[in-house]
Amino acid sequence: MCGIVAILNTTRYEDSVKQTISALERMEYRGYDSSGIAFIDKEHTLHRICSVGKINNLYTKCSSIDGTCSAIVGHTRWATHGIVTVENAHPQVTGNIAIVHNGIIENYNELKNIVNEPFTSNTDSEIISQLIFHYMKTGMTFKNAFLKTITMLEGSYAVAAICSDCPTTMLGAKKGSPLVVGSDQNHIYMASDAVALSQMTPNITYLEENDVIVAEQGSFQILENGTQQIHRNSVPNTISTENIDKGEYEDFMIKEINEEPAAVSNAYNKFKCSVNIEKYSTIHMIACGSSHYVCILAKYIIEKQKKIRIITEIASEFRYRCPVLNKDTLYVFVSQSGETSDTLGAMRLVLSQNMDTLAIVNVQESSIAREAKHCIYTNAGVEIGVASTKTFVSQLVTLLLTAGIDIPVMEVCKSINKVLNNTKNIFSTAQTLIKHKTLLFIGRGVCYPIAMEGALKIKEITYTPTEGYPSGEIKHGPIAIVDNTVCSVVIAINDDLYEKTMSNMEEIKARGGNIVTIGYKSNNICIDDEEMPSIFASITAVHMLAYYAAKLKNLDVDKPRNLAKSVTVE
Ligand code: G6P
Repeated sequence: MCGIVAILNTTRYEDSVKQTISALERMEYRGYDSSGIAFIDKEHTLHRICSVGKINNLYTKCSSIDGTCSAIVGHTRWATHGIVTVENAHPQVTGNIAIVHNGIIENYNELKNIVNEPFTSNTDSEIISQLIFHYMKTGMTFKNAFLKTITMLEGSYAVAAICSDCPTTMLGAKKGSPLVVGSDQNHIYMASDAVALSQMTPNITYLEENDVIVAEQGSFQILENGTQQIHRNSVPNTISTENIDKGEYEDFMIKEINEEPAAVSNAYNKFKCSVNIEKYSTIHMIACGSSHYVCILAKYIIEKQKKIRIITEIASEFRYRCPVLNKDTLYVFVSQSGETSDTLGAMRLVLSQNMDTLAIVNVQESSIAREAKHCIYTNAGVEIGVASTKTFVSQLVTLLLTAGIDIPVMEVCKSINKVLNNTKNIFSTAQTLIKHKTLLFIGRGVCYPIAMEGALKIKEITYTPTEGYPSGEIKHGPIAIVDNTVCSVVIAINDDLYEKTMSNMEEIKARGGNIVTIGYKSNNICIDDEEMPSIFASITAVHMLAYYAAKLKNLDVDKPRNLAKSVTVE
């Protein structure tokens, strides 16, 4: 959540506003309720420009300014503390200090007693600029005030700071939130991720926990724990901007759904397993959001076919329930971004007890990928749409291959392609859905996690109250909501549970509920018969259905309200 970027122009004053805003645009998936920049001009004056809404608004606001500067910081926000206003947007400025922050400062209220200046925002982040300013007033240098400030902070942060009295210095620090640094002949850059710097620097360095960056006099140093200078290897920044283009498509989401066959083949062909799972008596899969549903789906398939005991769990619950860990268990952390705070926190808990961890991650060099004992990449390519789509199928392929289950890739891709070409039926099913106030997605067996994924997608991008439920469970409560304002989406493939789900569908019909179906013999969205291809095709079908429902409601499918793609706060 939240993306930060900072640029220090090391050899000359430059107008870096456009470059900063385009870096923010590439990080918009991290949050997009407001954004802003602050820069130091030739007269050593600090300017702050912020706007509410998508980054395009900031772009318009900055279109005619002279942004010639020595240093600039930028931020795209996903609100945690303080509602969405210009005052609560970042950069937060106190006196001559501007900071941008990703994370949460948990002890900000306590720290407020140290400083004397009035606060101008309701954010937790403002305490950082306040403290730096406060310590500078006591005579400390900018650098020492910054170092002192970060020792006071509890919580998580990736922070960048500039000071108009030290126009050629830029400082940064990382704890719990990602931060990368890179440079070329004329600039030093910091950002929350490599995507932000993809057009700027060919090499980047991923910072480690408690690292501090001190950029001054044309170069930068990394200080371990804010004290000792340390060398950290840099890696080529391979993310190309072509992959982050919509191409011929109207939205990233539909582009990425159309990439689901490629995601399946890439995950399959590039699969490299570094762990022997036969060693373990149990596989414990931990994740958030859609990644968690993939785990449940994989559990159903793997337990049935391979008789391996699998437990699945939501990361935010696992990490705080004092779980009893076991040496015979492989702990598998599944995450598209590799940065989800709860998944990372859960993994660190497992690592701290010396248990074996495997990360299944899409974003290379992300925190979860780097910290896990073993890591397998899902190779789905960059995913921009906030609601995950192609990464879902790539995670499923990877989990199944890890368990030694082969996948008939050609047949799977063929069945997915049939769904992708079935736009007409999916569109008309979406038209039915949007006439209803409430939706219920149901399925049994493998169709149950797919139903939950469908319900989540509908909630995320159409804002329609939707339940995802096991078909057999609806009589224990959810059926009470059924009337003609409710539409149920019944997902049933050609497996041994098909007839049972059909009976549950009749129970809904008998109570006046409306029905659409996805799967075997469906009149709405018909799916191929073979079990493995039909599982994948049903996933694509629920993604498409949610997409068209949101388009029919004229909503922003790529950047739904209140959400962010990378959830780096708890
Ligand atoms: C966010 C996204 C979801 C995603 C979840 C977990 O909530 O909007 O689409 O499933 O995070 O993300 P991860 O990167 O860990 O898979």
